[in-house]
Amino acid sequence: MERTLAYLKPNAIQRTLVGEIISMIEAKGLKIVAMKLLLMGRDQAEELYREHRGKDFFEGLMKFVVSGPVVLMVLEGDNAVRRLRQLTGSTDPQEAAPGTIRGRFGVTARRNLIHASDSVESAAREIGIFFKKEELIDYTRHIEGEF
Ligand code: CMP
Repeated sequence: MERTLAYLKPNAIQRTLVGEIISMIEAKGLKIVAMKLLLMGRDQAEELYREHRGKDFFEGLMKFVVSGPVVLMVLEGDNAVRRLRQLTGSTDPQEAAPGTIRGRFGVTARRNLIHASDSVESAAREIGIFFKKEELIDYTRHIEGEF
């Protein structure tokens, strides 16, 4: 069973797409084991995106992700990392497949609505930036095993 981090970026909240995006995640069968609305701090943003430091879009990305509340989620399931990345679609919404979150709602690469961890290792690191262990809830859904 894998865990991954997803967060809905400020423009998803501003465009009132939170419900629709979470519905797509739920419909995919991924289980929400933690969720919060948060104003991301600059230090958290820099840690999350440390591999992009120095790139031309880094400063713009920092300003964007701290510009308003984000919705953070820890998702659990078999191959959760890969399944969420498939659902999310390519970084540039213009390249993203039509049925993906970015393909449906995305406009520009920076404002691409959602972040999804790119590996199990990144997921563990990224979850640790935003969540304490005790905030991840272990529970069983009634529908489990019926997909
Ligand atoms: P994300 O999946 O959160 O990971 C890195 C982020 O950097 C990416 O989504 C985009 O928001 C942003 N990003 C990547 N490439 C570009 C780009 N060419 N221009 C602006 N922002 C970008």
